[in-house]
Amino acid sequence: MNHASPARACGIDFGTSNSTVGWHRPGEETLIVLEDGKITLPSVVFFNIEERRPVYGRLALHEYLEGYEGRLMRSLKSLLGSKLIKHDTSVLGTALPFKDLLGMFIGELKKRAEANAGRAFEQVVLGRPVHFVDDDQAADQEAEDTLAEVARKIGFKDVSFQYEPIAAAYDYESGIEREELVLIVDIGGGTSDFSLIRLAPERHMLDDRHDDILATGGVHIGGTDFDKQLSLQGVMPLFGYGSRMKSQALMPTSYHLNLATWHTINSVYSQKSQLALGSMRYDIEDTLGIDRLFKLIDQRAGHWLAMEVEATKIELTHADNRLVDLSRIEKDLHVDLTRALFEASIDNLLERVRGSVDELLLKAGVSVGQVDTVFFTGGSSGIPALRQSVAAMLPNARHVEGNIFGSIGSGLAIEARKRYGA
Ligand SMILES: Nc1ncnc2c1ncn2[C@@H]1O[C@H](COP(=O)(O)OP(=O)(O)OP(=O)(O)O)[C@@H](O)[C@H]1O
Ligand SMILES: [Mg+2]
Repeated sequence: MNHASPARACGIDFGTSNSTVGWHRPGEETLIVLEDGKITLPSVVFFNIEERRPVYGRLALHEYLEGYEGRLMRSLKSLLGSKLIKHDTSVLGTALPFKDLLGMFIGELKKRAEANAGRAFEQVVLGRPVHFVDDDQAADQEAEDTLAEVARKIGFKDVSFQYEPIAAAYDYESGIEREELVLIVDIGGGTSDFSLIRLAPERHMLDDRHDDILATGGVHIGGTDFDKQLSLQGVMPLFGYGSRMKSQALMPTSYHLNLATWHTINSVYSQKSQLALGSMRYDIEDTLGIDRLFKLIDQRAGHWLAMEVEATKIELTHADNRLVDLSRIEKDLHVDLTRALFEASIDNLLERVRGSVDELLLKAGVSVGQVDTVFFTGGSSGIPALRQSVAAMLPNARHVEGNIFGSIGSGLAIEARKRYGA
């Protein structure tokens, strides 16, 4: 390391579910430990009411699950590109703009990375999905601008971006021996992102890779959407989703949709929402489900339920079913969720993911047979149905699994070194 010119550039993968910070130094570990010896910090904030302080990551999840009073916020990245980003949320009795909430979390990433690296970071390459927002370029640009504004506000002097699936490619490239045409498949918590890129050891540190990137693409589908579908198909019906009103119309779906969506769970607890549900109850034929919903709201157990659903989804990557214990809500209540139900519930989403890969190949003018390698990264690439269906599109390519939670952050750190120097 050259002490005369200390590295002041890092890469940050601010993920929907997990975040990492990387600092590239040849021969040393790139990703910086952020919590409990681990290189990821779950993208979660918990406002502990009693102690009037925010906590982050695994500790935040732990405090929430231990029943500390407070407010849990997950899937913060989903705020970018949503209408909520312009609004406030109420925490610890004051109005907190969602933008400031993002600033708190990314500021925490910066602080922890600096503490462990023993130096300040002034420049950052932030990862971004290929589309923050599908099919709306202005909104997409606004999301990136918001993230840049947040990063500057917490103290970064230079802020630039790289597509997450390009960053993952640079990480993979650091370990290959000959030129390959690679399809990068990054399926995370919020988005599925792809790049088709020519990689070669001798081009690894070139500044301009424009000609090597044949195409990038993506779609706003990720693990949180799979959680949502599993919840709606398998769990929410127990809580009144799909109930009939006395008029025979279906009960409005918005409450259950919000409850099944990580970043809108808290909205179901609002007074307005509870009042509306309360008056609706009189018009519902069978109130068993909605009464359970009231119990769940009373316990503020929405995130707990969503975590059970997520844990089930993950277990279904190797098991055929999981019995989910809901006795916390009602004595002896449980539900058996099967892999078959899960796969059926996400079938439409998988078709859209495959469609996005097709579109990418078409855009690049590359035939399936020309792709040498498919590189999988991102937590949701662990879902067998998803991986198999994408892999089956390129049967002759080699299939490689990257560091599913670390590839993007490592690649962003490589990019930061190229852009800002060592
Ligand atoms: N074994 C597994 N099988 C299925 N899904 C998994 C598994 N392990 C983790 N996941 C899911 O992966 C997602 C998190 O992946 P990852 O950390 O790559 O996302 P992210 O980088 O935070 O999100 P994004 O890149 O979309 O912003 C979560 O939805 C989680 O439930
Ligand atoms: Mg990611």
